[in-house]
Amino acid sequence: MGQSVVIYFSNTGTTQAIAEQIAVTTDSKLIGIHAKVDHPEADLDWEDPVNQSYHEMHAQKVRPAIEAIDPAPIAAADVIYLGFPLWWATVPGEINTLLDSLDLTGKEVHPFCTSGSTSITEAVSQLRENYPHIDWHAGRRFATSLTADEIRDWAAED
Ligand SMILES: Cc1cc2nc3c(=O)[nH]c(=O)nc-3n(C[C@H](O)[C@H](O)[C@H](O)COP(=O)(O)O)c2cc1C
Repeated sequence: MGQSVVIYFSNTGTTQAIAEQIAVTTDSKLIGIHAKVDHPEADLDWEDPVNQSYHEMHAQKVRPAIEAIDPAPIAAADVIYLGFPLWWATVPGEINTLLDSLDLTGKEVHPFCTSGSTSITEAVSQLRENYPHIDWHAGRRFATSLTADEIRDWAAED
């Protein structure tokens, strides 16, 4: 089997904890994405309907700057596990910034998320639409109590 990496964005640590377990179970290198500038507190109030409608209209266009990452392990990998918290049912802009900056053509990418309750379905269909050159595999929303078997089953899905 080829090399794999886990790349994740996590604002409050939930997705990071899952990403760490996936990295251990799949023997992958772990790479964290960090925004150059923290989101203002008000921006993160996702239950505020004003914020929500703003982001539903603009989320796909937002590309916040991210700290530089070493592209070498990503270029060398055949399989990528890509993790994020769901923000207004889709990926945080940092994930789009990352995907715009990498050439993942032909790589197997397994998206995963954490969320309050929303499923990953909408986020994955947007990713497939926006980045059609990537070989997107089944996405999964993980609860914090996941097992190694759950991770292995998901990683084996098309
Ligand atoms: C800006 C923002 C938007 C969010 N939108 C949703 C949402 O649409 N549906 C949902 O179930 N959870 C939503 N959440 C909750 C997060 O997805 C959830 O708390 C996640 O596990 C946080 O992951 P993290 O600790 O890795 O940042 C949102 C949180 C934030 C901060």
